[in-house]
Amino acid sequence: MRIARRLDGVTYAVRDVVAEAQKLEKLGHKILKLNIGDPNAYDLDTPQYIKDALAKAVASGHNGYSDSQGYFPLREAVVQFNKGKGFDSTADNVVVTSGLSEAVNLLFGAMVEPGDNVVIPSPSYPLYDAFVSYYGGEKRLALLDESNGWAPDVDDLRKRVDENTRAIVVINPNNPTGSLYPEKVLRDVISVAGEYDIPILADEIYDELVYEKTPKSMASLTKDVPIVAMNGLSKNFIAPGWRVGWITFCNFPDDSLKNAFMQLARIRLSSNFPAQVATVEALNNRKAYVAAKAEFIPKLQKRRDITYKRLNEIHGLSCVKPEGAFYAFPRINEGPWPTDKEFVLQLLREKHVLTVYGVGFAQPANTRHFRTVFLPNEQILEESFNRIEAFMKENVGKK
Ligand SMILES: Cc1ncc(COP(=O)(O)O)c(C=O)c1O
Repeated sequence: MRIARRLDGVTYAVRDVVAEAQKLEKLGHKILKLNIGDPNAYDLDTPQYIKDALAKAVASGHNGYSDSQGYFPLREAVVQFNKGKGFDSTADNVVVTSGLSEAVNLLFGAMVEPGDNVVIPSPSYPLYDAFVSYYGGEKRLALLDESNGWAPDVDDLRKRVDENTRAIVVINPNNPTGSLYPEKVLRDVISVAGEYDIPILADEIYDELVYEKTPKSMASLTKDVPIVAMNGLSKNFIAPGWRVGWITFCNFPDDSLKNAFMQLARIRLSSNFPAQVATVEALNNRKAYVAAKAEFIPKLQKRRDITYKRLNEIHGLSCVKPEGAFYAFPRINEGPWPTDKEFVLQLLREKHVLTVYGVGFAQPANTRHFRTVFLPNEQILEESFNRIEAFMKENVGKK
C-alpha cells in the first residue's frame, strides 16, 4: 500500500513506548506504568454524579446524533462555565467536539496549509506538533524556560513569529511539565499575538487540577486579541473516555474561522450525544463537582509531593515542582545516555518502569528529560522511584 506522505512527520511518543512495554509483558514481566495521562487507568474514577447523568441521558432516549455544533443546552452550560473563568461568550460561539484532540484536528484543518507555521511550546503535548505536520505546516518551537519554572520565554516566542504564523499555542497548566504560567507572562504572550494579529489557541484542559495557585484563563485577560478557549471533560472531570471537549471562539473580528471549522465539523456529524447531555449536569452541578474535587485534589497533591521530593533526591536527576495537571518532567543531568529515548527504553527494559522520553514532547534534540505521571498510588510511586534510584546508581559514572 502507498501511504500518504503527510504522515511522515506524525508521531505520538505517549503511545509509541507502549509497544515496547507490551513485548515485556508478553514475556511475563509486570510493568510499573508512569506513562499515560488517563486518571481512570489508575485509582481515580469519574465522579458518581456525572456517571448517573450519563445513565439517565441514555435511558431518556438521547441516543441519536446531536447538532454538529453541539447540544444547545451544553453550549449554554459552557457559556456559564466560561463566565466562572472570567470571560463572556455566547452559545453561538461554542463548538462541542470529540475531545480537544478532534478540535485541534479540525482547527488546523481549517487554518494550516503548506508554507504556514504554528508556534508551539517546547516542551508540549504532541497533539499540536502532530497535526501541524499532518496538514503540511511547520512547527515553530517556542522555548519554555526550565530555570523559570517552565514559563514561556516571551522573547524567544517573539522570534518564532512571522507573517506566515497562523496561531500561537498556549497550554496552561502544561503537559508535560505541570507548570502554571504567571499572569504577567500570559499578558506578554497576548501582546505579541496582538502585535502580529495572530489568534491564540489556549488549551486549559487541566485548569481545575491545580494545587496551590489558580490559573487565569487567557480569554479573561483580553477583549481584543482572538482566543480559542479550549476545555473539556477528559481531565478536569476525570472522564477522558467519554470524548467530550469544547472550544469557544472569543474576540474574533468575524465568523470565518468558526464557519470553516463547522464546515469540517458537519462532516463528522456530531460528538457523542449521551455524553454531551451528561456534561450539562457535569458543568451545572457545581456543588457536586466541588465535593468530587475535595476527594481527588488532595490525593493528587500528595502524589505530586512524593514525586517532586523523590525525583530531586535521586543523584543525577532534578525536577521543577509541578503546580498543576498530573505530570512531572525531570531532567537527566548525568549518565551515559546520548538521548532521553535511550534512557527511557533502558529503564523500561532493566527496571520495568515505563515513562515517556522528553523528545516526544516537541523538545530540542539536545536536551534530556522524561515525563512521568503522578496518578499511581503512593506505594507504586515509591516502588517506581526506588527502581529509578537504583537505575541511576548503576549507570551514573558509566561511559
Ligand atoms: C494538553 C492536552 N490537551 C489536549 C489533550 C487531549 O484531550 P482530549 O481527551 O480532550 O482529546 C491532552 C491529553 O492528554 C492534553 O494533555
